[in-house]
Amino acid sequence: MQGRRIVILTGAGISKESGLDTFRDPDGLWARVRIEDVATPEAFARDPGRVHAFYNHRRQTLLEPQVAPNAAHKALARLEADWPGEVLLVTQNIDDLHERAGSKNLIHIHGELLKARCLVCGGVSPWGEAMTRDSLCPLCGAEGTLRVHVVWFGEMPLEMDRIYEALGACDLFVSIGTSGNVYPAAGFVAEVRAGGQAHTVELNLEPSDGFTAFAECHHGPATVEVPAFVERILADGW
Ligand code: APR
Repeated sequence: MQGRRIVILTGAGISKESGLDTFRDPDGLWARVRIEDVATPEAFARDPGRVHAFYNHRRQTLLEPQVAPNAAHKALARLEADWPGEVLLVTQNIDDLHERAGSKNLIHIHGELLKARCLVCGGVSPWGEAMTRDSLCPLCGAEGTLRVHVVWFGEMPLEMDRIYEALGACDLFVSIGTSGNVYPAAGFVAEVRAGGQAHTVELNLEPSDGFTAFAECHHGPATVEVPAFVERILADGW
């Protein structure tokens, strides 16, 4: 097992048991608010105050004391620490629960809720408070030029070259807590399978839209399935 490379993809389902909403579950965010109103560049141009309010509420929730990494986040951090080869964690989530659990080799393909991006200087800064149209860029001082550092629908996800390189070279690909609805992430398993040699696993509460593409599936809560899976591959590989 020495040195074999693992790529893990996570989605909102891994943070559900930490108290954060998913998107497409019956009680998810998109059941309550329209993507077109809060998660596109056009929405931000049309009504920046409404978009700021949507992310301000999510940021405030994320920073509540009871919202913390759960056993699934912690198991992935342990895997990265204890596995003899590289473990790359690609998350679609904009929360910081993977970082708080200890994961380090981490890519936020859809950006980060706790960061601000300035439309004038392009700089990205940590941001933990409410963002308004009067907020000042910490880097260039411009007023009213900040947006949350999150990838909206119609925008390019982040670090795709690095991700595709890792997908093409990995020996194990694990998809956790994602419905397989949104590309490019939903296409990662096909990318891995095209390379031919990797094993593919889905760990999700229920079969995702793409579950048939995976060689192995375990369905149940992430806090049960992920620690069990990590335990197993650390002991016996796959
Ligand atoms: N344990 C494991 N999986 C869970 C749990 C849980 N406790 N609760 C829910 N799930 C699963 C659901 O069954 C669903 O398949 O998590 C998945 C969440 O799917 P979505 O709500 O579609 O979230 P995600 O796949 O992360 O969405 C991808 O879409 O809206 C955009 O940018 C947004 O990053 C997001 C992207």
